[in-house]
Amino acid sequence: MSNSTIFTPCQIGPITLRNRTIRSAAFENMAYGNKPSEDLLNYHRSVAKGGIGMTTVAYASVSQSGLSFNGQLWLREEIVPDLKVLTDAIHAEGAKASIQIGHCGNMTHRATCGQKPLSPSGRFNLYSPTFTRKITKAEIYELVEDFGKAINLCRQAGFDCVEVHAGHGYLISQFLSPYTNHRKDEFGGSLENRMRFMKLVITKVMEEAKDDMAIVVKTNMYDGFRSGMKVDECIKVAQELEKLGVHALVLTAGFVSKAPMEVMRGAMPLKTLAYYMDMKKFWWLKLGLHLGGRLVIPTVPYKDAYFYETAMKFRQAVKMPLIYVGGMNRKEDMEKVLDSGFVAFQMARAVLHDPDFVNKLQSGEVTESGCKHSNYCIGRMYTLEMKCHQCMQNSELPEKLRKEIAKQEAAVEKSNKR
Ligand SMILES: Cc1cc2nc3c(=O)[nH]c(=O)nc-3n(C[C@H](O)[C@H](O)[C@H](O)COP(=O)(O)O)c2cc1C
Ligand code: SF4
Repeated sequence: MSNSTIFTPCQIGPITLRNRTIRSAAFENMAYGNKPSEDLLNYHRSVAKGGIGMTTVAYASVSQSGLSFNGQLWLREEIVPDLKVLTDAIHAEGAKASIQIGHCGNMTHRATCGQKPLSPSGRFNLYSPTFTRKITKAEIYELVEDFGKAINLCRQAGFDCVEVHAGHGYLISQFLSPYTNHRKDEFGGSLENRMRFMKLVITKVMEEAKDDMAIVVKTNMYDGFRSGMKVDECIKVAQELEKLGVHALVLTAGFVSKAPMEVMRGAMPLKTLAYYMDMKKFWWLKLGLHLGGRLVIPTVPYKDAYFYETAMKFRQAVKMPLIYVGGMNRKEDMEKVLDSGFVAFQMARAVLHDPDFVNKLQSGEVTESGCKHSNYCIGRMYTLEMKCHQCMQNSELPEKLRKEIAKQEAAVEKSNKR
């Protein structure tokens, strides 16, 4: 049994985790019909049983207008009883339960969100691609209320923690970024104005969280392209979140519509993406891949603990608890991150690869994850439920996908050399 700091309890706001590991929000695509399912429950139960301190149910929308996928949770009264069964199952295995909440803004289509997609400035979103409608001031205040209501639904559903998604180019991030926010009113222009929507949302969220729920915010350290936010502005956002009393920040980067691989690093497996894609629903992406391929989704080389250096700048700029995410694959990197003053760390792919990873680390059976960062799981998540190719039979994968995986793994081995 390991006596590493990884396996010591930690405090996030009012809650205590049994250790410092958190399964990050990684979209499961298992909320068929926008409701919890048996698959979603079984998956999170397996992660909780695998020793994690807290598991995060991914990407639940606070309103129908904020949905970007059919397999995504839409928080509403009628799904609370099923969510409670899910959190009970997580608790029974000794882990805490968190849920990521947000609104996708312009990253959707009418067929999924039930209306013309909303955005801060009402421009055409080339990535989806779709026309969008500029959010009115009255709607801004309604959305703030939706975030507040979501906290109460999450409390009723038994969640210990809520993670507000303020990064990756979804709605809060679209307001923050000068690339997507061209408003001329008090919600656009200066950084102070671009932060206004986030400040309203977080103030409401903290009010509703009272003293029994932990609130963490996943926020960008940079957007990852020329006209996006840079580290200095993002530090100011982090300092604002600290003033608002948020219990911890999860530090990430990237913008799904412009720099998606900044989030996870490595290459998008384009053949996998195209292979599983439903032509009728995703014709635009398929066409884009055909025309532009790597230009549409540029590769960003992967290395373990790839956000460490940038995250340390934030560690120096704020006093509040920080949670590290990004390439936590090796035990020595996890310990380095904790020794550097992070309260905990999140993992997506290491736990996706093996839900039992934390138990195996603790028992000493392994010191690093078997994930090789082919990103196959990312390529399929837009159309199918989340799965690691290493858990699949060879016969389930056509030759061209197996070749692509091998090629991507070889590229990562090269870029990740120490
Ligand atoms: C399949 C998959 C789905 C993801 N979905 C989400 C998501 O819904 N919300 C989010 O904030 N990040 C999402 N991410 C990003 C992860 O939470 C995490 O920030 C990133 O993968 C880096 O962590 P890792 O190196 O441990 O995988 C996803 C990642 C993967 C691999
Ligand atoms: S599919 Fe590839 S990147 Fe995803 S968890 Fe498995 S090994 Fe890791």
